[in-house]
Amino acid sequence: MKIGFIGSGNVGQTLGSSLIKLGHDVKLGARSPEKLNTWLEQFGQGERASVGSFQEAAEHGELIFNATPGTASLDALLVAGHNALRGKILIDVALPLNFLNGELSLSVANTDCLGEQIQRAFPEVKVVKTLNTVNSTLMVNPLSLADGQHDLFISGNDTDAKSKVMGYLKEWFGWRSIIDLGDISSARGTEMLLALSSRVYGAVGHPNFSFKIVSKT
Ligand SMILES: NC(=O)c1ccc[n+]([C@@H]2O[C@H](COP(=O)([O-])OP(=O)(O)OC[C@H]3O[C@@H](n4cnc5c(N)ncnc54)[C@H](OP(=O)(O)O)[C@@H]3O)[C@@H](O)[C@H]2O)c1
Repeated sequence: MKIGFIGSGNVGQTLGSSLIKLGHDVKLGARSPEKLNTWLEQFGQGERASVGSFQEAAEHGELIFNATPGTASLDALLVAGHNALRGKILIDVALPLNFLNGELSLSVANTDCLGEQIQRAFPEVKVVKTLNTVNSTLMVNPLSLADGQHDLFISGNDTDAKSKVMGYLKEWFGWRSIIDLGDISSARGTEMLLALSSRVYGAVGHPNFSFKIVSKT
């Protein structure tokens, strides 16, 4: 599949590398694509890895990932362009976090969230929020923790798009349990989990953890 990334930092490179190794045709979008030459050099001939502008990455992808800082996501997606994104599934992994004076906070919360802001700004795009509750290593290798017995969440207005993304995450990376929380407003919950995640990180001393929901009817 042709996959485009808006954002080419830790998450873009980790997911992109993993997808290329699985045989996908990945273009990482960056403000300065030449910075990614070292990343590109690790792939051999025949492996379909490329870099370009945000717009080129969005045009390339049948499926798009938003892997930019949440506070910059709307601007970055506008640079990618409505035309290049129209009708496509956008997997939004971004967190709208501010880090000022050593204090972590969300730039949008409670009655709104980044996923909703993106969906409102791009009504012609199928925004699916997921993967945002785990670190990039676990995103692509959930089986490395507790034999994969932990939960991922998914939010979005388009049921078919969510179902496709759940299938991709299970097939590509081995995710076992993905809980559909509902429409894109349910991403408020997973974005606000950052308040807990950041404290869990501090308490356990590393980012290699996830959430497990235990329930009984
Ligand atoms: N890292 C994780 O494990 C993890 C886990 C869950 C969720 N997330 C979320 O996923 C997103 C990406 O995380 P990351 O760790 O990959 O971040 P990162 O390493 O800082 O990379 C961010 C990317 O966005 C670009 N960028 C930065 N500021 C920008 C701006 N003002 N306008 C346009 N593009 C900008 C950067 O481009 P340049 O190279 O040009 O600066 C870079 O390609 C974030 O929203 C983060 O909260 C990350």
